[in-house]
Amino acid sequence: MKPIFADRAAIDRAADLLKQGRLVAFPTETVYGLGADASNPEAVQRIFAAKGRPSDHPLIVHIADAVAMADWAAVIPDAARQLALHFWPGPLALVLKKKTWVPLAVTGGQDTVALRVPNHPVALRLLQAFGGGIAAPSANRFCRISPTQAVHVEDELGDTVDMILDGGACQVGVESTIVDLSGAQPRLLRPGQISRTAIEAVLQTDLLVPQAAGQSILRAPGMMAVHYAPVTTALLCAAGQVQGQIQSLTADGKRIGVLAYHAHIAENAQIRVIRMPEQADEYAQALYASLRELDRLQLDSILVEQPPDTEAWRAINDRLGKATVGLT
Ligand code: TXA
Ligand code: MG
Repeated sequence: MKPIFADRAAIDRAADLLKQGRLVAFPTETVYGLGADASNPEAVQRIFAAKGRPSDHPLIVHIADAVAMADWAAVIPDAARQLALHFWPGPLALVLKKKTWVPLAVTGGQDTVALRVPNHPVALRLLQAFGGGIAAPSANRFCRISPTQAVHVEDELGDTVDMILDGGACQVGVESTIVDLSGAQPRLLRPGQISRTAIEAVLQTDLLVPQAAGQSILRAPGMMAVHYAPVTTALLCAAGQVQGQIQSLTADGKRIGVLAYHAHIAENAQIRVIRMPEQADEYAQALYASLRELDRLQLDSILVEQPPDTEAWRAINDRLGKATVGLT
């Protein structure tokens, strides 16, 4: 399926496809989503089939505005209203107790539903034209890197999707922050561009942060929960150790790719280098496309130089941790 420029006519056609229970890939500010009518369990099943994803994984429901939260959530705590006011439209998904009618196919069998108002003109226009909630995971095959350009969706999903709306490259580049507000205390389920500190400042309370949410990025190989991974083995390496790693990885004529941050590395027939931006926001924007570019070259391995580990880099380090095997 070739991507189609997302003008008004294309978006209206996409909305019609969604009403018919078909799949439409569309841009958001974070990554491209693979959308289906969230109120139609058969349409939602198509998402799982297209992605090759187990059907007990819950999906985020995209809605047009904060007012629509009440269509999906049984209870809207004050914290949800405050976060919606501050950050929607934007890269934040809120997990709330679901209304009874919300299909279990969307929530992976759970009694909660994740909601998000995306901050992208094409996504918002599509939501308005469609008039309901759009369930959409990232538009990649299960366990692969999320797409940040329409052409990535084409590469990932081919003709299993009925339409791909092209709205350019995604601005944020990593998936939304997820906050669970369905329990007694708010919990950070996934770090994203909207930081823990920014959320805590709005809520005036601390977030519970499960250990799995990217606390420690250097974990032993084999103990990794591998998600978002390129096909080529990717290795995460501390800043000072890049040159040494390159030497051992390029032994026996092996070819490698390097996602460099601090280090200045000369390219040659065996070494392909992508220099990453210095700023966290720009790094995040470029990350998945850069990994994809190296992945396409069918190298023996990809070496990722660890960027800084401050809060601004939390989401990036979380995704790098999941895309790579740690070198300790
Ligand atoms: O930025 C994003 O959120 C992108 C764009 C397309 O909006 N979507 C995205 O969807 O990243 P996906 O399916 O790749 O990731 C959704 C995450 C999963 O980790 C899932 O476990 C979590 O949201 N999630 C969804 N519903 C949930 C629920 N009811 N309870 C807990 N986690 C939930
Ligand atoms: Mg995903």
